[in-house]
Amino acid sequence: MMIAVLDFGGQYTHLLAQRIRKLGVYSEIVSPQTPTNQLQKYSGLILSGGPHSVHSIEAPRYNTELFTLQIPLLGICYGHQLLCKYFGARVQQGQTTEYGPAELSLALNVGGVLKDLFHHQVWMSHSDTVVELPSCLRKTASTEHCSVAAVEHMHLNIYGVQFHPEVKHSVCGDTVLKNFLNVCGRNFDWSLKSYLETMIPDLQTKYVGKSVFMLLSGGVDSTVAFTLLNKALGPNRVIGLHIDNGFMRYNESVQVLEAFRELNISNLHIIDASQEFYDALKDVVDPQQKRNIIGNLFIDIQEGQVCKLGLGKEWLLGQGTIYPDTIESGGSANSHTIKTHHNRVARIQELITQDKVVEPLAELYKDEVREIGELLGLPHDLVWRHPFPGPGLAIRILCNDQQAEPLVELESDINVMLQYYEFDAIVLPIKSVGVQGDLRTYSHPVLLIGEANWDTLEKLSTMITNTFPLVNRVLYQIASLKTWSTPKLAKAMLTTQRIKRLQMIDYLVTNFLWENQLYEKVWQCPVVLVPCAPIDGSESIVLRPVDSSEAMTANFSRLPQDLLKDFGSTLLSPEISSVLYDITNKPPGTIEWE
Ligand code: XMP
Repeated sequence: MMIAVLDFGGQYTHLLAQRIRKLGVYSEIVSPQTPTNQLQKYSGLILSGGPHSVHSIEAPRYNTELFTLQIPLLGICYGHQLLCKYFGARVQQGQTTEYGPAELSLALNVGGVLKDLFHHQVWMSHSDTVVELPSCLRKTASTEHCSVAAVEHMHLNIYGVQFHPEVKHSVCGDTVLKNFLNVCGRNFDWSLKSYLETMIPDLQTKYVGKSVFMLLSGGVDSTVAFTLLNKALGPNRVIGLHIDNGFMRYNESVQVLEAFRELNISNLHIIDASQEFYDALKDVVDPQQKRNIIGNLFIDIQEGQVCKLGLGKEWLLGQGTIYPDTIESGGSANSHTIKTHHNRVARIQELITQDKVVEPLAELYKDEVREIGELLGLPHDLVWRHPFPGPGLAIRILCNDQQAEPLVELESDINVMLQYYEFDAIVLPIKSVGVQGDLRTYSHPVLLIGEANWDTLEKLSTMITNTFPLVNRVLYQIASLKTWSTPKLAKAMLTTQRIKRLQMIDYLVTNFLWENQLYEKVWQCPVVLVPCAPIDGSESIVLRPVDSSEAMTANFSRLPQDLLKDFGSTLLSPEISSVLYDITNKPPGTIEWE
């Protein structure tokens, strides 16, 4: 049994597909325009949420036959409004947005997707609302602010819910989804173990007689893909190449190599190219230039090695691409956050059309890839490492060759706004990357000094970034050797000394997270080295732990403040005089700083 999630551009579409898989049914994301003959293979269709109004001319086009296919259908949020409109309901364009938790009141004798609901808390996020129903639809639930919170068709297996069952704040969400799956069929038998059992023979049949070359970044996805290809095709038909650019986490290359050795995998070539990368970057300040130089150097070194290894045109290219990487770049035309992934650049696209690329994890989510890694015998800690950017620590070491610009007026305006809060705000004379609207911005962080709980800090952070467009990030001081007065900005480049300094601090932060059972709770925790501090000649460290699902949006993590303060003070030294904590969500701050 297989479920299709029709993607109308909702921010929770991936979450929805993952939830269905966790319930034991394989699901995939497809375009709302998928033709009828391709939809017929699915046992159920789910129409996702989306950012548009069903009345908007920008509303995504869809295959209208999907309501007549006799396949069970569940519409969520936008999907709910769309199906109601299709059957003749009146959908009112919202003047206000309802966002947050709500309590469901059920109609009498409800069944279908609302069967056996013991908890009634759901998560709402909408502005349009269904206000009048045709006779073929029956209202099955309402909330205080939403009269038609759920509907079902009188004769067909068609259901709509205004709330988001896939979001964990909808306490009854899994029951709703499970009820829908029960309507679609009874075989909840998909698991990663069964998937792996069919994937290995599938790879063997598909690539019979072929050999695969793979670049290994050292990250989780390529490590798992390489292990899997070794298992399926055997070591003689797979070659791996790891280029150490010198910006890896402390000891990371060695760790990965040891894990492969434990599994008797030795068909991996390692090139230590750190000196070449350091030389190419020693005078570079601009982060985008850093990325370009690193990307190009990777390709040059890789091409040289491919020649040296004598790999001809008959070799296929293996990649650790995972499901969201494929959907973001092409499949999800309605999503607002489209970006080209480096696994989908033009040269690779061309190879894909020639059938020369092997991507064994392309149907899986990150957590599923981790589970497959463990099933293949890779160590738990290794497969649970946080995602890490290709350019590595190079984009977590801020460089500067300018004098500090005075930002007195901006700072004073922010302090006026904060006058009723016991906080001092300091605008730091450095810049970091953020996303404001659809644009990437490069602007100033503001440092807050004072004491408050996370709720207040989040409120202040949002207030500051919403009011001052010149600010895209807010920081909170957790430890400092000296009170901040005038921030001291140093000239600083990508030196080996700074790289080693950050590697060591990043290692200590990683240990701190593991020791306190926090590592697997956060999505990623960039540790950033910033050449700006309260004491001349020293630097600051910024901790940036975030909670996220697939990195498209993120919230700063609310780690225990007492633990953080104790730990932060252990990082202080003559070189590091202040430890700061990033309290910016994405948007407006990106996960990485550069
Ligand atoms: P941002 O900073 O845009 O990051 O919120 C989203 C996710 O992408 C990763 N990231 C990168 N990955 N090359 C990569 O391979 C890069 O240049 C790069 N920049 C950001 C980031 O770590 C996060 O997971």
